[in-house]
Amino acid sequence: MWATAVGVARVRALETARENALFHDPLAKAFAAAGGLWPTSPALPDDEAARRRRLGVAFSIVIRTKFLDELLRQASASGVRQVVLLGAGLDSRAFRMDWPEGTRLFEVDTAVPLDFKASVLRQERAVARCERITVPVDLREDWPGALAAAGHDPAEPTAWIAEGLLIYLPEDAVELLLARIGAQSAPGSRMGLTLGSRGVIERFGADAEPGSAASMWVSEMPDDPVAWLAGHGWDADTHTLRERAAAYGRPINTPPRHEEQPGGLISAVRR
Ligand SMILES: C[S@@+](CC[C@H](N)C(=O)[O-])C[C@H]1O[C@@H](n2cnc3c(N)ncnc32)[C@H](O)[C@@H]1O
Repeated sequence: MWATAVGVARVRALETARENALFHDPLAKAFAAAGGLWPTSPALPDDEAARRRRLGVAFSIVIRTKFLDELLRQASASGVRQVVLLGAGLDSRAFRMDWPEGTRLFEVDTAVPLDFKASVLRQERAVARCERITVPVDLREDWPGALAAAGHDPAEPTAWIAEGLLIYLPEDAVELLLARIGAQSAPGSRMGLTLGSRGVIERFGADAEPGSAASMWVSEMPDDPVAWLAGHGWDADTHTLRERAAAYGRPINTPPRHEEQPGGLISAVRR
């Protein structure tokens, strides 16, 4: 399951190599290589539909990475000094972004991906640019307890990121996760989420290659994400991929082939 994180790293490595890259993730290539996906990935079905799906997923990863980088910069600017990456995978923001003095960044994931990551970081002699704390725990268990034991202070605001995570969790697990995040969020906390947009599982997941990330997708965003998050105590803004892509100078030039609902990309502030 965590192998999906290697695929994400591969996409970030490809973006990093672009001339007009939306972000630079110098560690991504080493993660992808250690995971066997660089320089080439294993032979994949190359019919037109599969190729289009892969490009679509890769594009969404690039845009969401940029979106959440911006959200974290704004959180830092507003004075937030705790960051929690839920399902952190091979996210290298601790190493590649500028953090204000005193920032503590917690990476929550299970032990196997965190150990894999640690071995690559050692090999690359990577140095974090903030205080980085890894928290090996399954998000289905008592992760708030593990996070508190690792030094997270719920009385201080936190910037929470759940990137490429919720789509893999059944709805009741998403609800529980949101409730637990809320319980650890002082006023002024921020949250960035990526949600599967409505219909994405039918369009991408249904005939996805077995074992691919899309074949494991199980949940989409609710009909009204703003109301849903208001119920959890957050003032949320939703953005579509198309709108953010245009804002970042990477417009999608094809007309939408299906009705686009607002918001696979969510930014929220704790009331
Ligand atoms: C698609 S990857 C995304 C990684 C990272 N957020 C990023 O965007 O680069 C999903 C990550 O969620 C983690 N994950 C999924 N279910 C989890 C669970 N129950 N507990 C902890 N981590 C989990 C996986 O191990 C994997 O690293």
